[in-house]
Amino acid sequence: MRILVLGHKGMLGSDIMARLADDHELIGKDREDFDISQAESCRSVMEEVDPEVVINCAAYTDVDGAEEHRDLCFAVNARGVENLCRSCEGRNVKIVHISTDYVFDGKKGALYTEDDVPHPLNIYGASKRAGEEILTRWSGAFLLIRTAWMYGKNGKNFVTTVLNKALNERYLRVVDDQLGSPTYTWDLAGAIKLLLEKGVEGVFHITNRGVCSWFDFARKILELARIDGVKIEPIKSSELDRKAIRPSFSGLSSQKFTQVTGKTLRFWQTALDDFLFHDLNLSR
Ligand SMILES: NC(=O)c1ccc[n+]([C@@H]2O[C@H](COP(=O)([O-])OP(=O)(O)OC[C@H]3O[C@@H](n4cnc5c(N)ncnc54)[C@H](OP(=O)(O)O)[C@@H]3O)[C@@H](O)[C@H]2O)c1
Repeated sequence: MRILVLGHKGMLGSDIMARLADDHELIGKDREDFDISQAESCRSVMEEVDPEVVINCAAYTDVDGAEEHRDLCFAVNARGVENLCRSCEGRNVKIVHISTDYVFDGKKGALYTEDDVPHPLNIYGASKRAGEEILTRWSGAFLLIRTAWMYGKNGKNFVTTVLNKALNERYLRVVDDQLGSPTYTWDLAGAIKLLLEKGVEGVFHITNRGVCSWFDFARKILELARIDGVKIEPIKSSELDRKAIRPSFSGLSSQKFTQVTGKTLRFWQTALDDFLFHDLNLSR
């Protein structure tokens, strides 16, 4: 397939480029090439590349920053999706769009399925939900993929932040009252590849298996990386002065993905181990 990856230099986009490159023709575009919030810019990229599939990883992803930059966040995450859909009209192209567990409010107390009703708590979640609504109204073929708590080789993420803080400050305070599913971008890229090759359409939740708190996640990072002598303290979200409210439980059920593909993603601990010792090259 001839695939256009928007936001190909970002954390997920770069792993999609790496993981799909052997079997497909990939063309990457990022912010220096176009601006998804500008209709004309989107249209000209689509005309230039003329892809069979466009995977949209371009997004405004600063969850706390969004509380202060609402207009920019909506311009990229909502109007950007509208521009993308419009630029695909009249073309035989499938849109793959990435969304988030933060479209949910966390009050369900169990894994969210694709049939659950979104109710975002913060501006970022609301902008991503607005993008989802635009995409699902679009008349063409699409895959809407919700994922969560991502980490990968090319991007600022929780795993590298914890490692840096542990090594430099030897002291961490991490919230233990938000639960979700850490997801390795390499695994997610593989799952997206599979859905594309199967020609599937619709909404899918995809994360690594299992649910934990940010505190559990941090402890596992230190344990696997064998970093001793670090004090790690569990705290409540209310003790952190963060601008955006986050859901307390945003685990996603990947059961539909498993039913359709016959595959299950690895447990988050196994994926994390792989990331630390392969992507980050830690030595055992
Ligand atoms: N990270 C997570 O934990 C997480 C969790 C769930 C869902 N998601 C979703 O997964 C997708 C990928 O996330 P990610 O963490 O890989 O994102 P990322 O690393 O922030 O990459 C996003 C890319 O989009 C580019 N971009 C931003 N604004 C743009 C614009 N106006 N026009 C064109 N390109 C633009 C960025 O360029 P600059 O770097 O120059 O800004 C960057 O290369 C997003 O849709 C995100 O909402 C992420």
